[in-house]
Amino acid sequence: MTTPATSPPPVIDLEDLGLDQGGHLLLKRALAAVGVGERVEVRGTAADLAVHVRAWARTQGHGYDWPYVVRGAAAGAAWRGAQPAGGRDLVVDRASPAWGLAARGAQVEAGGPEFDFPLDRRDAVWTDAAAGIYRQAVAAQWDPAVAVDWDEPFELPDEVEAAVVQVMTYLIENENAALVVPARFLARIHPHFREVVGVLAVQVADEARHVEVFTRRAELRGGPLGLSTAGGQASLLTLVTEPDFALAHFMLSVLGEGTFLSLLSFLERFAPDPVTRRVTHLALADEARHVAFGMAHMEAVLAADPGLRPRLATAVRRRHDALAHTAGLNAEVFDALVVLAAGQFTPAAIAKGFGRVQALEADMDDGRRRRLVKLGFTADDAAELAELHTRNFM
Ligand SMILES: [Fe+2]
Ligand SMILES: [Fe+2]
Repeated sequence: MTTPATSPPPVIDLEDLGLDQGGHLLLKRALAAVGVGERVEVRGTAADLAVHVRAWARTQGHGYDWPYVVRGAAAGAAWRGAQPAGGRDLVVDRASPAWGLAARGAQVEAGGPEFDFPLDRRDAVWTDAAAGIYRQAVAAQWDPAVAVDWDEPFELPDEVEAAVVQVMTYLIENENAALVVPARFLARIHPHFREVVGVLAVQVADEARHVEVFTRRAELRGGPLGLSTAGGQASLLTLVTEPDFALAHFMLSVLGEGTFLSLLSFLERFAPDPVTRRVTHLALADEARHVAFGMAHMEAVLAADPGLRPRLATAVRRRHDALAHTAGLNAEVFDALVVLAAGQFTPAAIAKGFGRVQALEADMDDGRRRRLVKLGFTADDAAELAELHTRNFM
């Protein structure tokens, strides 16, 4: 609103409200209603009002001619020279360290601190699928206390219960790895890419829930937990110490969690009790989303940098060589899977269980090859890399 030059300036009467008691809000509002160079008359009875108004006007870039304040060209000192942290819906190619933790689209005051977020390039972290996957992930959260009927009655032979507990013991350490890897990178990704940060944050929460439900199933009948082997932990160590985000995400979510889709489907199908069936079913739905995000991220970064593909292949070969001296899959886990799929201790049942575990391994290999081909690897490379993936599955 512009006041004609002939009419008297608008008056803002602060009554007894001091500028240090919020009176500046009324003054600011009155100035926003006049044009640059126009005046507002200030009235009030607070002590030293003229002195306070003069000091305030100077810091805000307004003129002062008591009892008038003349609107200046700048909105305020803090806003002068401020830089936008991208657009509200605009993801930039490289996020500035000076934007720090500011909201995307905020005006960032000049002279603030710089933050070190090493993953600050769109090419390295972004996929347009992130926002949709984040919404799905949030909508699909489940509460272990109500999603699982922990009191559902069942009877298992001791050997079958021990096999379930061994598989749960194995699953838990792999879930711990799947929690640690995204957690390590979360704090390194620039908050500008908030949808990607959001997906990984929910993924970490998913893994915490998987650890919880597998632990509760392992402890359900009060028996001791199973064996954690040196070979399994050596394999997981190579995963959680991989410093490159693309390589770590590829090995975790495309190859490892991809392989776990087959494993969790197998466990759901052959679970000898309803609680095991339910917890593996719930984890499987989350893992499918983790794999979908891993694939979407890899497709995006490979489109931007085809030179990454041979580096991914090298990482798989290097990991295989580093683990060549280890035992691979925990023999106790392999046997436990056979017992689960057999359901009882007769030669015919064990033969059937053994065949089912072999079919599981073929299904895992097939899934890895399909995903690698989808990421642009040749059929030969996909077959070689699928074969070299860790025998620990994750
Ligand atoms: Fe998980
Ligand atoms: Fe996962």
